[in-house]
Amino acid sequence: MKTILPSRSSSLSRLNRMLAGKTFDNARFFILVDENTYNHCLPHLIARVSRLHEAEFMEVPVGEECKDIAIATQLWQTLLESNADRNTVIVNLGGGCISDLGGFVAAGYKRGIRHINIPTTLIGMADAALGGKTALNLAGSKNQIGFFHQPAIVCIDPLFLNTLPDEEMFNGVFEMLKTFMIGDRERYGQLCDMILSGTLDITADLLTACAEIKSAVVKQDPHDTGIRRILNLGHTFGHAIEAYSHHKGQSPLAHGQAVGIGLIVALYLSVRKLGLDPAILDRYRTVAAKLVTLPHYNLRDTEGLLTYMRQDKKNQGGDICCVLLQNLTAPVIDLPVPENEIRDALLKIC
Ligand SMILES: NC(=O)c1ccc[n+]([C@@H]2O[C@H](COP(=O)([O-])OP(=O)(O)OC[C@H]3O[C@@H](n4cnc5c(N)ncnc54)[C@H](O)[C@@H]3O)[C@@H](O)[C@H]2O)c1
Ligand SMILES: [Zn+2]
Repeated sequence: MKTILPSRSSSLSRLNRMLAGKTFDNARFFILVDENTYNHCLPHLIARVSRLHEAEFMEVPVGEECKDIAIATQLWQTLLESNADRNTVIVNLGGGCISDLGGFVAAGYKRGIRHINIPTTLIGMADAALGGKTALNLAGSKNQIGFFHQPAIVCIDPLFLNTLPDEEMFNGVFEMLKTFMIGDRERYGQLCDMILSGTLDITADLLTACAEIKSAVVKQDPHDTGIRRILNLGHTFGHAIEAYSHHKGQSPLAHGQAVGIGLIVALYLSVRKLGLDPAILDRYRTVAAKLVTLPHYNLRDTEGLLTYMRQDKKNQGGDICCVLLQNLTAPVIDLPVPENEIRDALLKIC
């Protein structure tokens, strides 16, 4: 896999040169978009990457709705009816939903064709486009089916962030905060400072550093059997918070926002169980509150949330297994935490 990271020359221009090379001789390109990336991102891509002028494109519904086996089947049929052979390349132009779906379709078509991820959301650039995990939802449950299928190229160009709504930016910022908590103390501090002073600027340096941390972890554990779990910091709680907010239906939280709140729970437990400096928790809570409204959970809510956490595949012997922090950049995986301690943490989020 090649990753094109932001630098002084445009990432899309470098992609243009790469696609003109021998590896893509005879390749036929299909660009996967949703309505928003069709409108906001496709024109930039076509204008800068000449090899894609002749590409065909496939449009799918916006958001989680596209991560569905029925949509994947339609895409496979389109490819088949167009006589797409094994030299076909799927170009995923969009956020995490597009790369999860397009990667899945590429992994399955004729036992695996190449795909290129061009993330257009901050979650995509910081996380979803990297690492080779593809996924669809099943029976209302997120990411239940999928393959590991590494993209041939990931091209990160901050140009696409210009049209991204603030709320989507904040979702990505939470994933970046998580990554820097586990891998880069200095940039973690820098990002917190920007948020607190209201001068958030996702620079090429921050994007590059974040992508490099994720890529380095994935390289050590591509199939997620050990160390890669550090990337799940905040996610055991975040997934439950996200699912529970949809179940309650009043103000459903996006994945990034839910992870942002889940990180407070993780840090609270880290203070209690691993001696993390409480000042780190306090500062992070102030940072998170700038980007999302922190929920007040009562005892009844904690029961609902724990129901989702109990379903986590990584649990052991009745305890919920978590990733916590001993310190910034010192994560600990597979830590069993009794339910009463999690209940206590959920009640004290605010
Ligand atoms: N495979 C992985 O490793 C991994 C990691 C993290 C998240 N994910 C998945 O990613 C998904 C969330 O990612 P996401 O938030 O990027 O979702 P998304 O693809 O739904 O994008 C969010 C929204 O932004 C719009 N959009 C995208 N680019 C835009 C642009 N440049 N300008 C304006 N609007 C734009 C989209 O149309 C959509 O409405 C979830 O399904 C999650 O499970 C996967
Ligand atoms: Zn996440």
